[in-house]
Amino acid sequence: MCSKLLIAVCLLAYISVATAASASFIKKCKWEDSTCIKESTQAAIPVFAAGIPELGIEKLDPLHYDKLNASSETLILLLEDIVITGVKDCQAKKIQRDVPKEKLIVKALCTVDLNGQYEMNGRLLFLPIQGKGKVHAVLRKVMINVEGDVVEKKGKDGKVHWDIKSWKHTYELKDKASIELENLFQGNEVLGRAARELLDSSANEVIGEVGPPIIKALLTKVIKVVDRFFREVPAEELTLD
Ligand SMILES: *[C@@H]1O[C@H](CO)[C@@H](O)[C@H](O)[C@H]1NC(C)=O
Repeated sequence: MCSKLLIAVCLLAYISVATAASASFIKKCKWEDSTCIKESTQAAIPVFAAGIPELGIEKLDPLHYDKLNASSETLILLLEDIVITGVKDCQAKKIQRDVPKEKLIVKALCTVDLNGQYEMNGRLLFLPIQGKGKVHAVLRKVMINVEGDVVEKKGKDGKVHWDIKSWKHTYELKDKASIELENLFQGNEVLGRAARELLDSSANEVIGEVGPPIIKALLTKVIKVVDRFFREVPAEELTLD
């Protein structure tokens, strides 16, 4: 018969095995070995994208948002029931850690697909635009740069953990995006045509105007997950340094 104490010990052992097993997909590298770090990060991306329930890490692909506000100064743009896919296929381009400055720099190239509902009213690149309906957008080859302030902190397990204190990002579209908005101007063909032509010819400029809150929402979820992972898994399991 298992005593209560024994059950507790069994449970603890099980939890630590599960934790060790879940971090074991990380190939440890030395920070100066940039090839190793890039490969290790690349291998980790689909694992994170699928979610790691035993570490409380939610799926990153697909990502769901009930509401996103992508309004600018000239345009009201509200998105609803948004599903973003593609994170699992992001390519790690560069990962660099500057230990004295406590910086972690990550560059990744991603193509993301967005589906959902939109409602917009105002001016987009100076053209009046209005509509409400389905939206589908593809952002191709977005080069994302994230610079995080990563400090070392002692975790509940008494070991050193990384902690993302703050972060900032930039991004650049390396390929042509596409945006489809159904039911522009309540389906008025004539008014809708000019807007559709603009969306076709200047998709990247449009993304430049309305994309930042969307990219930010996406990165916020990704970084939340990575921060959670750092909190669960001590640094010694992630690096050879
Ligand atoms: C969306 O954001 C704009 C500007 O940032 C703001 O004026 C507006 O009230 C917001 N709308 C909603 C529904 O949150």
